[in-house]
Amino acid sequence: MPGLLSARGFGYGERMKATTVCPGVWRLSADLSDLLFEGLWPIPNGVSLSSYLVRGEKTALIDGVCGWDGVPETLFAQLETLGIPLESIDYVVINHMEPDHSGWLEAFRRIRPQFQILTSERSVPLLKAFFGITDQIRTVKDGDTLDLGNGRVLTFAEIPNVHWPETIATFDTQSGTLFPCDAFGSFGALGEAPYDDQLSPEQLAFFEKEAVRYYANIVAAFSGPTGKAIDKVEKLLGDKVKIIAPGHGIVWRQNPAKILSDYRRYVSYQKNPAKAEVSVIWGSMYGNTEKALDAVVIGLSEMGVHVKTHRVPDTSIGDLLASVWTSTGVVLGMPSYEFKMFPPLAAALDELFKKKVHNRLAFRFGSFGWCGGAQNELDDLLAHHKPGWQFLDPVEFQGAPRETDLANLRSQGRALAKAVLQSVTAGTWTQLLQHQRPLDGTCEDLD
Ligand code: FEO
Repeated sequence: MPGLLSARGFGYGERMKATTVCPGVWRLSADLSDLLFEGLWPIPNGVSLSSYLVRGEKTALIDGVCGWDGVPETLFAQLETLGIPLESIDYVVINHMEPDHSGWLEAFRRIRPQFQILTSERSVPLLKAFFGITDQIRTVKDGDTLDLGNGRVLTFAEIPNVHWPETIATFDTQSGTLFPCDAFGSFGALGEAPYDDQLSPEQLAFFEKEAVRYYANIVAAFSGPTGKAIDKVEKLLGDKVKIIAPGHGIVWRQNPAKILSDYRRYVSYQKNPAKAEVSVIWGSMYGNTEKALDAVVIGLSEMGVHVKTHRVPDTSIGDLLASVWTSTGVVLGMPSYEFKMFPPLAAALDELFKKKVHNRLAFRFGSFGWCGGAQNELDDLLAHHKPGWQFLDPVEFQGAPRETDLANLRSQGRALAKAVLQSVTAGTWTQLLQHQRPLDGTCEDLD
């Protein structure tokens, strides 16, 4: 059966134990692995899906957990271990309609048709389109509340486009727990230690890298709305937020300020200089562009920036996105291929620009054979996407690089690193000087 999250392999995910987030709030979860998230993104360290049960006199389930065929047995089994019968669930809050969170809903409705769904107005057509559900839906807007009794009141906030337009966040006013679904999430399966207070500094550092990859792959294109959502959370709730319990990744109950500040930083990397890092993305057919690579890397390293090299097509676009998102500089080692960009680099750049990786300092070099063309196609792509990348003059060479080329490459590496360091230190973009450059090799008209 085709999976909701992936077209490769199959699995229900590993069923975890239900755990107590705080009195009256439980986390139900599944760890998934051996799949492509959204059918697209490799997740070598898996991913956790989390659902939350909140009890006053009434019981609400916030978002869902299911195996990735939509069967909610994982969720049902964990409810059973808590001794909470399915029949006691009065409300289901759907923060976000993407099927990794909502895919269990149709099966649940067949078993327990009585529950009421609370969700945003924009979810209504999606509930119909995905699951044929048209009744027992209560739509909520900013500031609406649901009183569960015993002093437990849920309040709702619209956070559109984090990650789909219909997304809301739910806040339990009694415990101060924010349930933001995709926001503040990460990749990485958490196993039986999902809380920040259970993780060592090394584990937290590991999951921070997973959070960057998750952000770059899933959230980056929505950085503007994500920044607005963070502003909204801080303005509306301020220090009332004691716990952040997302739909993926760590539950932050010791230091929720950390994930807020991490996410604010990831958002800022779209418009402002990021880290003092340069991502070098390169490909080579016969080793000539590869021969030039060392000279550029030496030039970069001489200036003290951190250099991350990625060969394509060997490196996944998911990893490239994560690397470039935290980098202030980008180097493209890209030969010409049949009058165009080397195809795996063209594919990577197209995805980077679609994910709105904007405002980077960049440099391109590469070999051409009988004819160039890579630079022309790159110029067209930049004109189309307008990502705001500033480029140093490219260095191109026919066949193998000569000594003068290698000297130029090293010099451009140093120039890029210098501009990166200046930009990071100043917190604003250094303007790169560009010269009138000659076009790369002249192409005969073969038509
Ligand atoms: Fe985790 Fe946008 O779904």
